[in-house]
Amino acid sequence: MALPSLKIKDFTLQFPIIQGGMGAGISMAPLARAVAREGGMGVISSVALDILTSNRIGKPLNTYEATIQEIKDAKIDGGVIGINIMVALFQDYITSVKASLDAEVDAIISGAGLPLQLPEIALNHKKDFRTALIPIVSSDRALEIVCKRWARFGYIPDAVILEGPLAGGHLGWKKISDIEKEENKLENLLPGVLKVAKKYGKIPVIVAGGIYTREDIDRFLELGASGVQMGTRFLATYESGATEEFKDMVVKAREEDIIVAERPGSPCGMLFRLLKDSPMYLDTLKAARPPKCDRGYVLYNGYCPAMDDNKNYFCICNGLLGTTIYANTDEKPLFTVGHNAYRVKKILSVKELMDELTRD
Ligand SMILES: Cc1cc2nc3c(=O)[nH]c(=O)nc-3n(C[C@H](O)[C@H](O)[C@H](O)COP(=O)(O)O)c2cc1C
Repeated sequence: MALPSLKIKDFTLQFPIIQGGMGAGISMAPLARAVAREGGMGVISSVALDILTSNRIGKPLNTYEATIQEIKDAKIDGGVIGINIMVALFQDYITSVKASLDAEVDAIISGAGLPLQLPEIALNHKKDFRTALIPIVSSDRALEIVCKRWARFGYIPDAVILEGPLAGGHLGWKKISDIEKEENKLENLLPGVLKVAKKYGKIPVIVAGGIYTREDIDRFLELGASGVQMGTRFLATYESGATEEFKDMVVKAREEDIIVAERPGSPCGMLFRLLKDSPMYLDTLKAARPPKCDRGYVLYNGYCPAMDDNKNYFCICNGLLGTTIYANTDEKPLFTVGHNAYRVKKILSVKELMDELTRD
């Protein structure tokens, strides 16, 4: 079966494939641009763009300016460009949303917490924006909560991403025992989410977490999904902003090297999947890194638990900045990957990967 296109709000993707936003600095303009050129949605991550875009172009920019610049650079060859703005990025969330609307990005994708305020922020900033608003959820209940809240502003999600327990980055559950439950497998979460999506007006449902091959894409389309979001496959491309060390660790990773951290874990309070030999994680196991907060992207009311507790929490800001070629840091890296990262045997170009996924 030929892959169908995917229409969301005012744009149509040639292929129903979204490259997942990957912070910090993994999915920047070069990766997003390459994906958009091949007919998928290229997605920038909004994390730490003040540092990362400034380094990438060699000019100091604040968060607002950097977001505009990154979107502009991703759009150079045309195609569809989104931006991933995590709710957990309390410090810059509103600025990132406003800049993205001003840059007329095609979609804002928002998760790592429920993006309950997103339409309110967007509508207060611009009445008739053309950007699609897409929440990430991990259950039908979460989608129901989002839809009810967004309805207060007269807004229905333009699409929704259902992210299951095999994904990279933060996971939408608090305990490892939860992600091991049969009912929380992506294919078992999908029917409930499709039901809520239909109830609120035929919202396209895009699945994420463990999608690796064309067969996976076909299988989920048959189950009723309208598209897929993939992270790990795009992490392992030449165009991604991961350091050589990170790409090398991914290629060498065995299944047992990939774990989910609960405690010690992320200061954002969600499970986090990573390579167990990530230097920042190993330091946390020994409480070897003195607690220090000099970035503050996840500060909530001025506080992050990793500020003063280096035993139970790793410093997610500095750990992720250590994984990208666009940061200049001596801090040790924290390598996040999806469960299927052990299947990566070599680094591909985005074109090779998209050809593999879309060829009939
Ligand atoms: C290196 C890496 C960084 C990620 N960063 C983010 C992020 O900043 N925001 C987010 O919503 N999801 C993030 N994710 C999740 C991806 O966008 C995607 O949904 C997920 O990895 C899909 O699962 P897969 O890796 O099995 O394809 C990240 C994933 C990886 C591998």
